[in-house]
Amino acid sequence: MWRSKSGIVTILLLSLFYLTLLPFLVHAVGMIGIGLSHDAADQSYLFAQDHVVGNAAMMLHISAGAVLVALVPLQLVRGIRQRFNRFHRGLGAVLIALALVTGLAGMIYVPLRGTIGGPVMSVAFFLYGVCLFTAALMVARMALSGDRNGHWKWGLRLFWLALGSWLYRLHYTLWYLLTGGLWSEPDFSGAFDLVQNFAFFVPYLVAVQIWIAIRHAAHREPLFRSP
Ligand code: HEM
Repeated sequence: MWRSKSGIVTILLLSLFYLTLLPFLVHAVGMIGIGLSHDAADQSYLFAQDHVVGNAAMMLHISAGAVLVALVPLQLVRGIRQRFNRFHRGLGAVLIALALVTGLAGMIYVPLRGTIGGPVMSVAFFLYGVCLFTAALMVARMALSGDRNGHWKWGLRLFWLALGSWLYRLHYTLWYLLTGGLWSEPDFSGAFDLVQNFAFFVPYLVAVQIWIAIRHAAHREPLFRSP
């Protein structure tokens, strides 16, 4: 009974997630289409005339990032992890590769082209890239060395970081619905925008850390239990 209840909750949460992700994915595919067009620079500020490396980095970034955010929730579904262990491992390797490419391409783009929000956004997004890249490397390292606790902790961090771009847009959507866009400016210079530069990944990393510490204290046992 409990198992089927939790299964239904998982399906509901996943459906809600994919419903809210859909507009973002459509946008990402649209941006890739623009990037491939001959007049990309006229259609979006993300691309610049004769800026091959920056344009390629952005294309790679959007492509890998979109697949990453769409696939990452499946990695935490317990039913899949327990029943299809080989799928979990295969998907894990794919997610790590996607996170490395997304983070690296973003970190190449930022110093080359900057961001629409200026220096604070550039610093924040670069830091986000460092976190995503590091978490992906650490998940791989922990898996290869057979450290299941470490793998679980870094996996959780990578999970929330991989969801970051979705959380960023979710925060904005909810804020605009609630306040009509208070403290938010078109050039991202508003107080909300400045906080938001960090608020889509730093608090989630802190929450994961607190949760890990609480579980450590409560159980005093390995945090990861094999299926
Ligand atoms: C799952 C993770 C990610 C996804 C799905 C994603 C997706 C995207 C998309 C679709 C855009 C185009 C936005 C637009 O049309 O305005 C974009 C822009 C950008 N992304 Fe990411 N991204 C992710 C992670 C990252 C990371 C880790 C970094 C940092 C290294 C980063 C840095 C940037 C930058 C600098 C821009 C251009 C910002 C601007 O000036 O508007 N992203 N990303």
